[in-house]
Amino acid sequence: TYKACLFDLDGVLVDTAIYHFQAWRTLGKQFDFELSHEQNEGLKGISRVESLEKILHWAHYQATQEQKERWLKEKNDTYLELISHMNPSEILPGVISFLSQLKEQGYLIALGSASKNARIILEKTGLITWFNAIIDGNLVTKSKPDPEVFLKGAAALHCQASDCIVFEDAQAGIDAAKAGGMKVIGIGSQKVLQGADKVISSFTDLQVSELLHL
Ligand code: BG6
Ligand code: MG
Repeated sequence: TYKACLFDLDGVLVDTAIYHFQAWRTLGKQFDFELSHEQNEGLKGISRVESLEKILHWAHYQATQEQKERWLKEKNDTYLELISHMNPSEILPGVISFLSQLKEQGYLIALGSASKNARIILEKTGLITWFNAIIDGNLVTKSKPDPEVFLKGAAALHCQASDCIVFEDAQAGIDAAKAGGMKVIGIGSQKVLQGADKVISSFTDLQVSELLHL
Protein backbone atom coordinates (compact mmCIF):
# COMPACT_ATOMS: atom_id res chain seq x y z
CA THR A 1 0.00 0.00 0.00
CA TYR A 2 1.00 3.59 -0.53
CA LYS A 3 1.13 6.38 2.01
CA ALA A 4 1.56 9.54 -0.01
CA CYS A 5 0.71 11.29 -3.26
CA LEU A 6 3.07 13.86 -4.78
CA PHE A 7 1.54 16.26 -7.26
CA ASP A 8 3.10 18.35 -9.97
CA LEU A 9 1.26 21.69 -10.19
CA ASP A 10 1.24 23.13 -13.72
CA GLY A 11 -0.88 20.95 -16.00
CA VAL A 12 -1.88 18.56 -13.20
CA LEU A 13 -3.82 20.64 -10.66
CA VAL A 14 -4.23 23.84 -12.71
CA ASP A 15 -3.77 24.75 -16.33
CA THR A 16 -1.12 27.45 -16.35
CA ALA A 17 0.54 26.41 -19.63
CA ILE A 18 -1.50 29.09 -21.40
CA TYR A 19 -0.08 31.80 -19.10
CA HIS A 20 3.49 30.58 -19.60
CA PHE A 21 2.79 30.55 -23.33
CA GLN A 22 1.47 34.12 -23.32
CA ALA A 23 4.35 35.39 -21.19
CA TRP A 24 7.02 33.74 -23.39
CA ARG A 25 5.27 35.07 -26.50
CA THR A 26 5.30 38.60 -25.12
CA LEU A 27 9.00 38.27 -24.35
CA GLY A 28 9.76 36.74 -27.77
CA LYS A 29 8.67 39.96 -29.48
CA GLN A 30 11.93 41.49 -28.28
CA PHE A 31 13.96 39.14 -30.45
CA ASP A 32 11.43 38.56 -33.20
CA PHE A 33 10.42 35.09 -32.14
CA GLU A 34 6.94 33.57 -32.04
CA LEU A 35 6.75 30.50 -29.83
CA SER A 36 4.49 27.81 -31.33
CA HIS A 37 2.07 25.69 -29.29
CA GLU A 38 4.17 22.65 -30.13
CA GLN A 39 7.32 24.32 -28.83
CA ASN A 40 5.43 25.35 -25.70
CA GLU A 41 4.72 21.64 -25.07
CA GLY A 42 8.47 21.11 -24.95
CA LEU A 43 8.77 23.62 -22.10
CA LYS A 44 6.48 21.68 -19.77
CA GLY A 45 8.11 20.61 -16.53
CA ILE A 46 11.43 22.33 -17.18
CA SER A 47 12.75 25.33 -15.27
CA ARG A 48 12.46 28.98 -16.28
CA VAL A 49 16.18 29.23 -17.05
CA GLU A 50 16.16 26.07 -19.20
CA SER A 51 13.04 27.30 -20.97
CA LEU A 52 14.76 30.54 -21.97
CA GLU A 53 17.80 28.60 -23.19
CA LYS A 54 15.58 26.45 -25.41
CA ILE A 55 13.72 29.46 -26.76
CA LEU A 56 16.93 31.34 -27.60
CA HIS A 57 18.19 28.21 -29.33
CA TRP A 58 14.99 27.96 -31.41
CA ALA A 59 15.25 31.67 -32.19
CA HIS A 60 18.95 31.29 -33.16
CA TYR A 61 19.66 34.17 -30.81
CA GLN A 62 22.89 34.65 -28.89
CA ALA A 63 22.16 36.64 -25.75
CA THR A 64 24.57 37.93 -23.14
CA GLN A 65 24.24 36.80 -19.54
CA GLU A 66 22.95 40.23 -18.62
CA GLN A 67 20.28 40.14 -21.32
CA LYS A 68 19.20 36.66 -20.22
CA GLU A 69 18.79 37.79 -16.64
CA ARG A 70 16.74 40.80 -17.68
CA TRP A 71 14.53 38.66 -19.92
CA LEU A 72 13.96 36.04 -17.21
CA LYS A 73 12.73 38.81 -14.94
CA GLU A 74 10.56 40.35 -17.65
CA LYS A 75 9.00 37.00 -18.54
CA ASN A 76 8.24 36.38 -14.89
CA ASP A 77 6.76 39.86 -14.38
CA THR A 78 4.36 39.22 -17.28
CA TYR A 79 3.56 35.77 -15.88
CA LEU A 80 2.94 37.15 -12.38
CA GLU A 81 0.52 39.70 -13.80
CA LEU A 82 -1.34 36.94 -15.68
CA ILE A 83 -1.60 34.58 -12.70
CA SER A 84 -2.61 37.38 -10.34
CA HIS A 85 -6.16 36.92 -11.66
CA MET A 86 -6.29 33.17 -11.01
CA ASN A 87 -9.09 31.79 -8.84
CA PRO A 88 -10.52 28.43 -7.69
CA SER A 89 -12.46 28.03 -10.96
CA GLU A 90 -9.11 27.24 -12.65
CA ILE A 91 -8.57 24.03 -10.67
CA LEU A 92 -8.74 21.18 -13.19
CA PRO A 93 -11.80 18.86 -13.22
CA GLY A 94 -11.94 16.14 -10.58
CA VAL A 95 -8.96 17.47 -8.60
CA ILE A 96 -10.83 18.57 -5.47
CA SER A 97 -12.86 15.40 -5.29
CA PHE A 98 -9.69 13.30 -5.68
CA LEU A 99 -7.83 15.28 -3.00
CA SER A 100 -10.72 14.91 -0.57
CA GLN A 101 -10.87 11.14 -1.16
CA LEU A 102 -7.12 10.97 -0.47
CA LYS A 103 -7.50 12.90 2.80
CA GLU A 104 -10.43 10.77 3.90
CA GLN A 105 -8.38 7.64 3.33
CA GLY A 106 -5.38 8.95 5.26
CA TYR A 107 -2.93 9.65 2.45
CA LEU A 108 -0.34 12.40 2.85
CA ILE A 109 -0.24 15.02 0.10
CA ALA A 110 2.76 16.98 -1.20
CA LEU A 111 3.57 19.27 -4.08
CA GLY A 112 6.59 18.64 -6.32
CA SER A 113 6.82 21.51 -8.78
CA ALA A 114 9.61 23.17 -10.77
CA SER A 115 7.85 26.51 -10.47
CA LYS A 116 9.10 29.29 -8.25
CA ASN A 117 5.57 30.70 -8.35
CA ALA A 118 3.89 27.57 -7.00
CA ARG A 119 2.87 29.04 -3.64
CA ILE A 120 1.18 32.06 -5.20
CA ILE A 121 -0.85 29.80 -7.48
CA LEU A 122 -1.79 27.47 -4.61
CA GLU A 123 -2.95 30.50 -2.61
CA LYS A 124 -4.89 32.14 -5.44
CA THR A 125 -6.75 28.90 -6.18
CA GLY A 126 -7.24 27.95 -2.53
CA LEU A 127 -5.45 24.63 -3.10
CA ILE A 128 -2.80 25.37 -0.49
CA THR A 129 -4.84 24.00 2.41
CA TRP A 130 -4.64 20.43 1.03
CA PHE A 131 -0.86 20.10 1.27
CA ASN A 132 1.22 18.51 4.03
CA ALA A 133 4.42 19.65 2.27
CA ILE A 134 5.31 21.96 -0.60
CA ILE A 135 8.52 21.49 -2.58
CA ASP A 136 8.83 24.07 -5.35
CA GLY A 137 11.45 25.57 -7.65
CA ASN A 138 12.91 27.60 -4.80
CA LEU A 139 13.87 24.47 -2.89
CA VAL A 140 15.60 22.42 -5.56
CA THR A 141 18.94 22.76 -7.31
CA LYS A 142 18.38 20.17 -10.03
CA SER A 143 15.36 20.24 -12.30
CA LYS A 144 13.26 17.36 -13.61
CA PRO A 145 14.12 14.74 -14.94
CA ASP A 146 16.36 14.74 -11.88
CA PRO A 147 14.33 13.16 -9.04
CA GLU A 148 15.38 15.78 -6.43
CA VAL A 149 12.00 17.53 -6.17
CA PHE A 150 10.12 14.28 -5.52
CA LEU A 151 12.75 12.81 -3.20
CA LYS A 152 12.56 16.01 -1.13
CA GLY A 153 8.77 15.72 -1.15
CA ALA A 154 8.94 12.14 0.15
CA ALA A 155 11.48 13.14 2.80
CA ALA A 156 9.33 16.07 3.95
CA LEU A 157 6.49 13.58 4.51
CA HIS A 158 8.85 11.11 6.25
CA CYS A 159 8.08 8.56 3.54
CA GLN A 160 10.15 6.21 1.41
CA ALA A 161 10.09 6.51 -2.38
CA SER A 162 8.23 3.19 -2.52
CA ASP A 163 5.41 4.70 -0.40
CA CYS A 164 4.74 7.44 -2.96
CA ILE A 165 2.71 7.91 -6.10
CA VAL A 166 3.57 10.87 -8.34
CA PHE A 167 1.10 12.66 -10.63
CA GLU A 168 2.68 14.32 -13.67
CA ASP A 169 1.73 15.78 -17.05
CA ALA A 170 5.26 16.24 -18.45
CA GLN A 171 7.66 13.62 -19.74
CA ALA A 172 10.50 15.22 -17.72
CA GLY A 173 8.38 14.74 -14.58
CA ILE A 174 7.53 11.12 -15.35
CA ASP A 175 11.22 10.43 -15.87
CA ALA A 176 12.00 12.20 -12.57
CA ALA A 177 9.52 10.06 -10.64
CA LYS A 178 10.87 6.85 -12.19
CA ALA A 179 14.46 7.92 -11.46
CA GLY A 180 13.38 8.42 -7.84
CA GLY A 181 11.95 4.88 -7.68
CA MET A 182 8.31 6.00 -7.43
CA LYS A 183 5.10 4.93 -9.12
CA VAL A 184 3.79 7.55 -11.50
CA ILE A 185 0.44 8.37 -13.02
CA GLY A 186 0.54 10.45 -16.18
CA ILE A 187 -2.12 13.05 -16.85
CA GLY A 188 -2.61 13.53 -20.57
CA SER A 189 -2.39 11.25 -23.56
CA GLN A 190 -0.88 7.76 -23.56
CA LYS A 191 0.77 8.58 -26.89
CA VAL A 192 2.99 11.35 -25.59
CA LEU A 193 3.67 10.10 -22.05
CA GLN A 194 6.22 7.29 -21.94
CA GLY A 195 6.95 5.07 -18.97
CA ALA A 196 4.07 6.00 -16.67
CA ASP A 197 2.49 3.17 -14.64
CA LYS A 198 -0.92 4.41 -15.71
CA VAL A 199 -2.15 7.32 -17.83
CA ILE A 200 -5.44 9.12 -17.27
CA SER A 201 -6.85 12.00 -19.25
CA SER A 202 -8.22 13.72 -16.16
CA PHE A 203 -8.85 13.13 -12.45
CA THR A 204 -12.50 12.52 -13.25
CA ASP A 205 -11.29 9.13 -14.60
CA LEU A 206 -9.65 8.01 -11.36
CA GLN A 207 -10.80 6.60 -8.01
CA VAL A 208 -8.43 6.42 -5.05
CA SER A 209 -9.18 2.68 -4.73
CA GLU A 210 -7.53 2.14 -8.14
CA LEU A 211 -4.18 3.29 -6.73
CA LEU A 212 -3.82 -0.06 -4.95
CA HIS A 213 -3.47 -1.86 -8.29
CA LEU A 214 -0.49 0.10 -9.58
C1 BG6 B 1 6.82 24.07 -14.48
C2 BG6 B 1 6.19 24.41 -15.82
O1 BG6 B 1 5.84 23.59 -13.62
O2 BG6 B 1 7.42 25.24 -13.93
C3 BG6 B 1 7.24 25.02 -16.73
O3 BG6 B 1 5.67 23.24 -16.40
C4 BG6 B 1 7.86 26.24 -16.06
O4 BG6 B 1 6.66 25.37 -17.96
C5 BG6 B 1 8.45 25.83 -14.71
O5 BG6 B 1 8.88 26.79 -16.87
C6 BG6 B 1 9.06 27.01 -13.95
O6 BG6 B 1 8.06 27.90 -13.60
P1 BG6 B 1 8.28 29.34 -13.00
O7 BG6 B 1 6.90 29.71 -12.50
O8 BG6 B 1 9.28 29.24 -11.90
O9 BG6 B 1 8.75 30.22 -14.11
MG1 MG C 1 3.44 20.01 -15.22
